[in-house]
Amino acid sequence: MPRAHALLLEKVHPSADDEFARHGLLVTRIDKGLDEDELIAALRAVPGELPLVVGIRSKTRVTKAVIEAVDRLHAIGAFCIGTDQIDLAAARAAGVAVFNAPFSSTRSVAELVMAELVMLSRQVFARSRAAHDGKWAKNAQGSREIRGKTLGIIGYGHIGSQLSVLAEAFGMHVVYHDVVAKLPLGNARACASLDDLLGKSDFVSLHVPDTEFTRDMIGAAELAKMRPDAHLVNASRGRVVDLGALRDAISSGHVGGAALDVYPEEPASESERFVCALQGLDNVILTPHIGGSTQEAQANIGIEVAVAVSRYLDGGRTLGCVNLPNLDMPPPASLRGQTACRLLNLHRNVPGVLSRINHAIAQSNVNIAGQALATLEDIGLLFVDLPLGADELAAKDLCAAIAALDTSVRTRLVAL
Ligand code: NAI
Repeated sequence: MPRAHALLLEKVHPSADDEFARHGLLVTRIDKGLDEDELIAALRAVPGELPLVVGIRSKTRVTKAVIEAVDRLHAIGAFCIGTDQIDLAAARAAGVAVFNAPFSSTRSVAELVMAELVMLSRQVFARSRAAHDGKWAKNAQGSREIRGKTLGIIGYGHIGSQLSVLAEAFGMHVVYHDVVAKLPLGNARACASLDDLLGKSDFVSLHVPDTEFTRDMIGAAELAKMRPDAHLVNASRGRVVDLGALRDAISSGHVGGAALDVYPEEPASESERFVCALQGLDNVILTPHIGGSTQEAQANIGIEVAVAVSRYLDGGRTLGCVNLPNLDMPPPASLRGQTACRLLNLHRNVPGVLSRINHAIAQSNVNIAGQALATLEDIGLLFVDLPLGADELAAKDLCAAIAALDTSVRTRLVAL
């Protein structure tokens, strides 16, 4: 018996279908992006009464109008990293969970950066351009191995720490700087400060998120603190580096070169012209935000999002959900081996809401084996785990009573 129906748009990778099938979801595909009216019509046209999931990539916008027009919509899978195309606030208000794939391209980005360290160190792009022009620049001037050099990683998260492992395999020394204390992998060492890292590194690679604290974190002052002839790589977010200052530092010869994959302004499509302050400089590699653009990353994204959405539909778990409180409680040990169910309640986080829910529970004839609550701003997520026994009807009545409260946004029972 299928549990839900997923409508997948924009050629989401087929790895998602297998994962959804394993979790008992039906899948329908439309292999293109849809506009608002088309999306509403397509979702309304999905037959049956099952909960709905919509899977999109970056082209389809899931607006407030879409969310409000389709009551059966329980979850949105963004099979990509960004979620700007989704009205997250409207989804939260309607109790629609949004999941994305922040980790699937980790390895792809780390591999690209490793390759760029070698390319920069050997001036491969300038020599390749010369060779295309018929010039034979066969000399060792300025070319170095990366073995034995120091790589400074700013942001030792998923990508930064993966890069750390690859760089050590190349024989590099790795130092890193992070605002959070991180376990060093291999022989990597944490630096006391960003300045400390800049002064020690032959290559500096950025792997931080775009926040108010990371904007322009590498400007003229920081570039001046880099070692003479050191190289900079940014495959994180475009606003982290002041590109004007970087152009000046490279033109003056202080910084040896740079590889950039991300920019403060990026073209919205392939037909739009790309403009960047570093165009035309030798030993600057410019790539069009392709750090995570590999077949493997796409397949991983299909699995990562489908698993997260399925875990939400199966047991209400919201780990990694971008717009609802994160709650990942497994069923309590006391229910192991028993027929049991979980009541999920998304409610408006207003004074008195819990006492009203608890009142409904007290009035019911059910025994509670486990309970967990997480809140995020104006919304709360509550799990109530119940041994079913002969009390299936009582559990359904309790679910209906809680669903009827005017503070409840979405309430359902799932088998455990
Ligand atoms: P992550 O969240 O796992 O790691 C980020 C790390 O940066 C965390 O350890 C965090 O504590 C640290 N951090 C935050 N603020 C900091 C600061 N002010 N100074 C030093 N450290 C700071 O993120 P992940 O997955 O490693 O991604 C890193 C970046 O790469 C993100 O900006 C992400 O958007 C970008 N990215 C780029 C892709 C591309 O195609 N070029 C593809 C995938 C991710």
